[in-house]
Amino acid sequence: MIEIRGLRKTYRSRKGSVAAVDGVDLRVGEGEVFGVLGQSGAGKSTLLRCVNMLERPDAGTVSVGGLEMTRLRRGQLRLARHGIGMIHQHFALLSSRTVAGNVAFALEVTGAPRAGRKQRVAELLEMVGLTGRAEAYPAQLSGGQKQRVGIARALAARPKVLLSDEATSALDPETTESILRLLHDLNQRLGLTILLITHEMTVVKRICTSAAVMRDGRFVESGTITELLRTPGSELARGLFPLDGPTEVAGATVVDVTVSGPEAEAPIIAELARRFASDVRILGGSVERLAATRAGRWRIALPGAPDDNREALKFLSERGVVS
Ligand SMILES: Nc1ncnc2c1ncn2[C@@H]1O[C@H](COP(=O)(O)OP(=O)(O)O)[C@@H](O)[C@H]1O
Ligand SMILES: [Mg+2]
Repeated sequence: MIEIRGLRKTYRSRKGSVAAVDGVDLRVGEGEVFGVLGQSGAGKSTLLRCVNMLERPDAGTVSVGGLEMTRLRRGQLRLARHGIGMIHQHFALLSSRTVAGNVAFALEVTGAPRAGRKQRVAELLEMVGLTGRAEAYPAQLSGGQKQRVGIARALAARPKVLLSDEATSALDPETTESILRLLHDLNQRLGLTILLITHEMTVVKRICTSAAVMRDGRFVESGTITELLRTPGSELARGLFPLDGPTEVAGATVVDVTVSGPEAEAPIIAELARRFASDVRILGGSVERLAATRAGRWRIALPGAPDDNREALKFLSERGVVS
């Protein structure tokens, strides 16, 4: 649905130049929720803004739904943008318009016929759980409600793709949860493809099917959540399941075991204990429901040196990732 190849964008000023996006390749399939995780200044917003051409890339191609955005002329680009909704950290609502007015504005801009607009606004407000707040003004809304208006507005023209720039970063954890649930629900109900950027691991955990870590304008790792969990040393895997148990235990071999999918439900540690190391100790870890899969990660101590545990380690490697 979204395909980016060799994307570069450099900002130049008198003080010098900043390669905000420095060679990014990205594919987001239809109905996928792809998260780009990175710290402030990593180039995330620039990357996102290159998808709908709010920023013109210096090099590379961007296509959305098969349309090569980089090649479109102004008129065509305006039309193409109707197929791409966008939501923002600070909502960007019109303060002088009501909730319904803000959503109706998006319909006016995209040239939806006047007849039927009212009906469509009601439909959109229902979709985001704001029925009953239609006549309120932004200043009267909570942060979560404001973001719901932002989402309704972004979906006005029935886009196939939604871009989200830190949509939950200004919200408290509970409200974040409810907005992520709404996005997940819209992804499932409408088959909406979502490309989101965030600096919060929880966001990736809750709704992403794929993710990338961005640093200094580049992706340092990227893949489906399942793939990443199976990649030894993956930063995202570590972030999704922080392990705080000790890394060394006298007289024992300490390893981290990561499993996903059906293996997360299986009694792996029990089987390990039964077959190989009856005194295996769990030092830390958990099993969690991620958006894409169920996964487990444990730090365990096997009595003895690695050589004494060769069979046990082989057994674990066959079930998941051992590091
Ligand atoms: N319009 C701009 N002009 C000059 N530099 C910019 C502009 N927008 C972003 N940058 C710089 O590009 C880099 C990446 O910024 P940004 O894409 O906003 O990162 P992020 O969203 O990950 O915080 C930063 O160093 C930022 O200062
Ligand atoms: Mg940003």
